[in-house]
This record gives sequence, C-alpha cells and structure tokens, in this order.
Amino acid sequence: MTPRRRAASVICVDGPSGSGKGSLATALAKRLGWRYLDSGALYRVVGAAALDRGVATDDEAALASMARGLNIELSEGRVGADGLDLTERIRDEAVAAAASEAARHPQVRQAVLAQQRLAGEAPADETSGLVADGRDMGTVVFPSAELKIFLDASAEERAQRRYKQLRNKGVTVNLRTVLANIRDRDARDEGRAASPLQPASDAVIIDSTHMTIGDVLRQALALVRESGLAEAPAGYRAGTTAHDVNQPTIRSSRARHPGAASKPKT
Ligand code: DC
Repeated sequence: MTPRRRAASVICVDGPSGSGKGSLATALAKRLGWRYLDSGALYRVVGAAALDRGVATDDEAALASMARGLNIELSEGRVGADGLDLTERIRDEAVAAAASEAARHPQVRQAVLAQQRLAGEAPADETSGLVADGRDMGTVVFPSAELKIFLDASAEERAQRRYKQLRNKGVTVNLRTVLANIRDRDARDEGRAASPLQPASDAVIIDSTHMTIGDVLRQALALVRESGLAEAPAGYRAGTTAHDVNQPTIRSSRARHPGAASKPKT
C-alpha cells in the first residue's frame, strides 16, 4: 500500500451558504492542479441518509452511528454513499436543511472529521496540495493550513445568487423563502456550540457581495502567490498583489497575524 501523509499544502476556503466558496475552491484547485475537498457534501450525505432512513436530526447518537457507518465516496465532482450516486440529490433544499441540523451535533462532526482528515492525506509522493471548502476547515480540520480564506457576502446577495441558480434549474421558488432559508442556516451554522461558522484568527476575509467570481479568483490567486504556495499560476496577472485587486473588499489580513503569515512551507 502507498504510504500516505498530510497533503503538501492546504488552502482553506470557509464561509456561509451561497458566498461562492464552492466556486472559488473548485476554480482554485483547477488552476493550481490541486485536489479539492467539498466538506459540505459530507454533511449533506449525512442529511440525505437521515431523511431516507427516517433518523431524526435531533437524535445525535443515532445520527453519529449512522454517519460512522456510511461509506462516502467523493471523486471527480461526484458524491456517493454506500454505492448510491447522490450528486444531484444532496443539492435539495430539504437535504441542505437536514445537513445543517445534523452538523450541530459534536458526535456527528467527529464522525465526519475522520473522513475530512482522510481527504487531507496524500500519497507520499504527492507534491501538490488540497483546497478544502466548508465552515470549519481553517478553525478545526486544518488549523495549520498555509492559507485560509473566509469568503463572505450579504445574506440578500447570497439569496439572490441561490434564487437565480434554482430558477435556472427550472425550480419555482420565492426569493423571500430562499432568503429566510439562508438566514435560518446562517443562524444554525453560526450559533451552534460545536465548531461554529467563524473566520479563523489568521484567515483573510473577502467580502464578495459586489464582486464577480472572476474578481474573487484573481484576489485569491494573488494571496496564493503572496503566501509562496505556488509560482504565479496560469491566468495570474503579473504585478498584481492581493492588496491592489479590489482592495476595499479585504476586511482583515493575515498581516495582523504574523505567526500564520510567516509559517514556513513544508
Ligand atoms: O457548504 P454546504 O452548504 O454544502 O454545507 C451544508 C451544511 O453542512 C451547512 O449548512 C453546514 C454544514 N457544514 C458544516 O457544518 N461544516 C463544514 N465544514 C461544511 C458544512
């Protein structure tokens, strides 16, 4: 068996629902040629399994036992569990709500943590890294990640984005309902005692409310370069720094947290 160890480098992209962290993380992974971990998909699989098996989302012990027994497969953008392809199913609003409820429980988080850390391991000869997106990638799962980005946007903007996505898929929805769902999930994700949604102290916060995905990606690539994680990746504009692309949107910077900024690359 090939020996495995922690990925050579980890970039965390955390943030609330609809902030665009999934789009940013996948685009970053593609540009850098790194692996991608969608940690929310793991919680969504737990949420879908709970709905399918009639396990109540307030029954922590039953949920955790179910989560430990799930054989979750994430590969090439597909998500499966126990041989079933759940890629489309886990994007349902009902599954999202069940995932958010299940994710409140420390025992469930513990079960999912093992799967996340496994994803963070790499074959011993791997020289590239991992881009991990979620809520607690930078605070709990990969606390020593080389770069932590917290991508935020106003609840109204996130609801608009989700509304457009659903309409494009032909789903009839009401914007007010989408906004209410987003606010409910924010409240649950931020308010829970176990690993609440919050930026790591050494995260760079980007507010994407008035930015396109292209703007966000350029900013993130500039941060990657400044962190010394990769030589100017393809598409990176020479001479650009994280501080001269959309400067006003950076609300905090690792410059305030020199410990993290000076971490040597292994
Ligand atoms: O990122 P997402 O919308 O796919 O996540 C679905 C739910 O999973 C989200 O409401 C909260 C939970 N989650 C979490 O608690 N921790 C993570 N690292 C990722 C997701």
